[in-house]
Amino acid sequence: MKHLLDTDSLTKDWTERLFKKAAIFKKEIILTHRQGEHLKGLHAGLLFFEPSTRTKASFHMAASMLGADPVTVEVAFSSIQKGESLEDTVMTLDAMGCHFLIIRHGEDQAAAAAAKVARQAHVVNAGDGAHEHPTQALLDAFTILEKGKKFEDLTILFLGDVLHSRVTNSNLSLLKTLGVRKILASGPANLMMPEVERSRHGIKYLAQLDDALSQADVIYVLRPQKERHAEEARIVMAQYRQSWGLTSERVAKSVKKDALIFHPGPMNIGLEIDRDIADGPHSCVLDQVANGLAIRMAVLDTLHQDC
Ligand code: NCD
Repeated sequence: MKHLLDTDSLTKDWTERLFKKAAIFKKEIILTHRQGEHLKGLHAGLLFFEPSTRTKASFHMAASMLGADPVTVEVAFSSIQKGESLEDTVMTLDAMGCHFLIIRHGEDQAAAAAAKVARQAHVVNAGDGAHEHPTQALLDAFTILEKGKKFEDLTILFLGDVLHSRVTNSNLSLLKTLGVRKILASGPANLMMPEVERSRHGIKYLAQLDDALSQADVIYVLRPQKERHAEEARIVMAQYRQSWGLTSERVAKSVKKDALIFHPGPMNIGLEIDRDIADGPHSCVLDQVANGLAIRMAVLDTLHQDC
């Protein structure tokens, strides 16, 4: 595989090999504070057209922990501000010899457009519009496994702004490939994926949040993606928390004792999730972040090894 653009194209076998490699990197490099030399002499271009904290920092660290040199293009101070297109920017970094181009962009399919024009670089999609965010789904599945859950037995609930969530999109394909059979969604009707899409993915929509919470082994909380909302979808904060927030009261009342709570970050504390839930015993938020590093190291190394 040359590029990582989505999760549709990933096989179970490829994913399991990636997870094995990520576990080795975690044990032998991350936890021992060593530096690998697997990608020594290579350059990893980071092109982030949308804000990012964890994805950008984690790709940067992943590249350098394997010996590659991260090259950050500061989009706000780059020639993009002079009207240069994504394609021209990609071709420029590719021509300089960047071995990887890690791209986040506000438009669906931006990573695929970059892959079309890159002559030698491996393109990695770090989130494109409401389309896909494959490394997020990979680190989520890796974390579910690490917590001892079995995909075949799992009921996962996506809660919140499913409609605009590239994280959900990437998770849906990957989780199905890995054997998950029961996928639920809950959240405001105007932020829900259309019914045709839901039935295509085999998702059951539950309008009663407590009902959905009581069935879920993994609760995946999503932020309302305000930047992608049309004017009419604007949410009222107090109402959102009351109707759809993962509050302490709701968790105490409806959530299974051994349920795991996931959130890709950034979290809006007090809106979609309460502080003590984000920091509480069910929460896997920081495990997700930590595993993101191992997964991204494994992705870069696998793309490099594969061709
Ligand atoms: C997500 C993203 O950017 O898609 N965050 C992330 O990468 N960890 C989710 C979000 O912004 O809500």
